[in-house]
Amino acid sequence: MCLLGVIAEGDFYKDIDITWGEHGVKILGSNFLLLSLHHSSGSGFRSKAEYLHGRMDMQLKLVSGNSAGTVTAYYLSSEGPNHDEIDFEFLGNTSGEPYTVHTNIYTQGVGNREQQFYLWFDPTKNFHTYTIVWNPHRIIFLVDNIPIRVFNNYEARGVPFASRQPMRLYSSLWCADQWATRGGLVKTNWSFAPFKAYYRNFDAKGCVWSQGSSYCPSNSTAMTWQTQDLDAHGRRNLRWVQKYYMIYSYCKDYKRFPQGRPRECRLSRFS
Ligand SMILES: *[C@@H]1O[C@H](CO)[C@@H](O)[C@H](O)[C@H]1NC(C)=O
Repeated sequence: MCLLGVIAEGDFYKDIDITWGEHGVKILGSNFLLLSLHHSSGSGFRSKAEYLHGRMDMQLKLVSGNSAGTVTAYYLSSEGPNHDEIDFEFLGNTSGEPYTVHTNIYTQGVGNREQQFYLWFDPTKNFHTYTIVWNPHRIIFLVDNIPIRVFNNYEARGVPFASRQPMRLYSSLWCADQWATRGGLVKTNWSFAPFKAYYRNFDAKGCVWSQGSSYCPSNSTAMTWQTQDLDAHGRRNLRWVQKYYMIYSYCKDYKRFPQGRPRECRLSRFS
């Protein structure tokens, strides 16, 4: 019964469906995939499996050179109205200028929880690991195992959390030059197309959702993400990222919330 087994070390041939821009998706090996963006279309894929909680690791090498206006997205999402979503979006830039890592969390259809970061390396030179941990207690975004964002489950205090809707993993490469780079001032330069982003070593450890139930791996080492939290070292790292690399947090945007910031911002030490 493979449903009960550990779904680790994903296989791009078996574990994903191409969702759009078929000609732009190239599976180069069981653990190696290329997305490209042409003037006519972007491209994307999603996991076949749905998960109710999990830890998703992927190594990405982002569009290099002049990538202004391109967006590489890597996210979890449920379906239907009032959906839940956990987003990583990488906003390209002109050559030599930094990417922005845009994160957001939607619960029951409502987002507005943006946090943005620069990276401490050039994400176009090498593969780096981007991780979403989603367990019943919290959501953690990690970059090379360094936590950049934590969103705690404060459902008991009246803050909606992604608790009940199973999600798939999605990824896509598309053009958003109406807004992505400096509010749309910098347009995509199509003479550099096709733009290419590479994906490696997809690893989904999660409880697979099937016919109304979730099936978690029985092996306890495969389940450590279930209780994953920040230890002292993780908290130090998160403080370092927030101090030097965070460029926007909705929790610090007092002008945006004249009636008071969202409740989770007031409850969390890291917001
Ligand atoms: C592009 O680089 C400029 C200059 O460093 C920076 O201000 C801007 O935030 C960057 N834009 C994106 C979309 O990352």
